[in-house]
Amino acid sequence: MQIDLDTLPDDPAILQQMLRDAVHQHCALHAENDKLRLLIQRLLRQQFGRRSEQLSPDQVQLGLEDLEQAVAENQAGQDATEAPQDRRRTAPPRRNHGALPEHLPRYEVLIDVEQPDWPISHADAIVCINMLHISPWSATLSLFRKAAELLPTHAALFLYGPFIRHDVKTAPGNLEFDASLKARDPEWGLRDVAQVDHLADGCGFVRAALVEMPANNLSLVYCKV
Ligand SMILES: C[S@@+](CC[C@H](N)C(=O)[O-])C[C@H]1O[C@@H](n2cnc3c(N)ncnc32)[C@H](O)[C@@H]1O
Repeated sequence: MQIDLDTLPDDPAILQQMLRDAVHQHCALHAENDKLRLLIQRLLRQQFGRRSEQLSPDQVQLGLEDLEQAVAENQAGQDATEAPQDRRRTAPPRRNHGALPEHLPRYEVLIDVEQPDWPISHADAIVCINMLHISPWSATLSLFRKAAELLPTHAALFLYGPFIRHDVKTAPGNLEFDASLKARDPEWGLRDVAQVDHLADGCGFVRAALVEMPANNLSLVYCKV
């Protein structure tokens, strides 16, 4: 139901009917939300089995991203049928900014690392979390090449996520995750630290730190030389 708030009718009977319709629609949306929540649970279970309750945050994130994409497409379809004034009231996207100290300014910039032109001209540091394995190797290449252009000497390119190391046994969960990524897209998959080091070297970076993190993730800090 579309309500144009600028042209509400004066007739109380019509207004009452509109209110009843709005409440009815509100209840229907609630019911739909409940159904979608159940669907999310079912889809996660379908994709990862009953163990989905024990998925790594990465795996859950991936499953949810697919669902978010589907919901966004749904929403886009819905927006197209809504009046413009309804669209303006759409909630802003949720961003995980909760952990940033309050006094820091927030600048939201969207960067596709594979685009030749990034919407920034320089950076003091670059942080890239959980992306390398969920994008083709060409994205890692672009990231390092652009980081080499944008960062000053001694600045850090910080990477976080699951990686493969030849000298350390890969956790079974990570191997499974790697296989599931490759099944979704053969160009995805956990990156080999030695290969990333090699790429970094070719782009003028040296690995300054490797820190083991919870859930078999690594922090890799590359320093521009
Ligand atoms: C598993 S999510 C990680 C999200 C977030 N960094 C985190 O750790 O919660 C993978 C992210 O990689 C991003 N990504 C994939 N390809 C990309 C590209 N070419 N440029 C920029 N980001 C990309 C996706 O947009 C997605 O947000």
